Amino acid sequence: MAETKRAKKTVTLFDDLEPVVNKPESKDPAITPKRKILFVASEARPFIATGGLADVIGSLPQALAKDPTYDVRVVLPMYSDIKPDFRRKMSFLGNIYVPLGWRNQYCGVFTCEREGVTFYFVDNEYYFKRSGCYGYYDDGERFAFFSRSVMEILPFIGYYPDILHCHDWQSALAAIYLKTIYCKRPEYQFIRALFTIHNIEYQGKYSLDILEDLFGISTNYQYLLEYDGCINLMKGAIECCERFSTVSPTYAKEIQTAQYAHGLQDIICKNAFKLTGILNGIDVDMYNPATDEALFAKYDAEHLENKKICKTELQKMLGLPVKNVPIIAMISRLVSHKGLELVKSVAEDILHEDVQFVLLGTGDKAYEEYFRDLGVRYEGKASVNIAFNGDLSKKIYSGSDIFLMPSVSEPCGLSQMIASRYATVPVVRETGGLYDSIKPYGDNGNGFTFASCNAYDMLYVIHEALDTYKKSEEWKALMKKAATTDFSWLRSAEDYKKLYEETYRTL
Ligand code: GLC
Repeated sequence: MAETKRAKKTVTLFDDLEPVVNKPESKDPAITPKRKILFVASEARPFIATGGLADVIGSLPQALAKDPTYDVRVVLPMYSDIKPDFRRKMSFLGNIYVPLGWRNQYCGVFTCEREGVTFYFVDNEYYFKRSGCYGYYDDGERFAFFSRSVMEILPFIGYYPDILHCHDWQSALAAIYLKTIYCKRPEYQFIRALFTIHNIEYQGKYSLDILEDLFGISTNYQYLLEYDGCINLMKGAIECCERFSTVSPTYAKEIQTAQYAHGLQDIICKNAFKLTGILNGIDVDMYNPATDEALFAKYDAEHLENKKICKTELQKMLGLPVKNVPIIAMISRLVSHKGLELVKSVAEDILHEDVQFVLLGTGDKAYEEYFRDLGVRYEGKASVNIAFNGDLSKKIYSGSDIFLMPSVSEPCGLSQMIASRYATVPVVRETGGLYDSIKPYGDNGNGFTFASCNAYDMLYVIHEALDTYKKSEEWKALMKKAATTDFSWLRSAEDYKKLYEETYRTL
């Protein structure tokens, strides 16, 4: 980096604080300290995963840590669901007490290293010895404890990051605590906060009366967190952080509109000057058809022949007739924003074609029942698997031909990237990260896309995909194109580094 000087501005976020005077910075690159990034998130692969957030926190820090000028660390809650295999690899650093409202809570600190990244786990059995990660009546308190612990462990672990990178509402309070309580302490005053929205639907909304008592934040700061008559942690983090981002450029635009913002559009628009969209990547080593042990046979973009074995074995395993018809697959949470109404409207039309349909996922009971019933009615043509199964998902990604993802909204979406990597051609709606990652075949792209939330538009492009499938040379070229599209973190990690630099220079 040629420019090492920081802006000479002296800025502070709140009127009651003394202005912050910038630290002098060394001009000698040989003694320039490493850029310190602390990730704060509620899940990360391989330790604990319920969704796409875990994929990101399990791979972006590692991608950044490949740069020797970066010191990347991650803090997670010590859930009881973290497997003993991982626990055995951790060491116990000690414990501290964390103030939360009027109480002081025990906080054990564990650590382990993984691919150049230091992970910390904050332990309190009262909060985290439960099955799963979320869905408890006291989630607000649980993640307030988590966020406050992050702030409190910094002196204990002797690490004050340049950037506190918080993800989604569960760690929003870390950014809020930093700017309302901790930045008054000299060691914390140079920490900048970056907040990333993975899904704006979940904002962390609570009643106003717990602000002081439970979250331990003075009502002087209520204006920062209050929105629509309640505490809104996502809103608070957006107000407090120096920069915020989301997981695709298109979603960054979409969340400035009422259609996508789940009520937060005014806040997003007001703060749009500090918003960036960066498309996620995937861990291309973990999702690699050339090495993936879960597959019936291995292959790569240059040698796709074995994909046929994956297909035949998948058909046998799912009780579908072994024949050369296109398999259309969906692997999805069964919730409405995944575009399942569109699928419902034309499912029969799709199944009247010479195709097979495979679905894997769990979610809303009504959708589970609908698809179960569809599977029964189209036995031998449709295989419906109401389950969450990592091994089966890999077998479906590799053994299918077409991957259907017609989301109504999709901040980024990782499944379309994984499917592509396994040479399964995506059919997607042009929204969020789907729009940014999949381009239409007609324009020399890597999949099939449709714009409006209209089932017949979707059906039209499915037909386009089925017609192309019949032209085997064209299809082979398209499979190769999908499989060689670069979805690695290399590209996005560079964008994050730019954003960290920008965030760092804001004070
Ligand atoms: C959320 C979003 C998904 C995104 C993932 C990782 O799960 O719904 O679109 O890919 O976060 O950022």
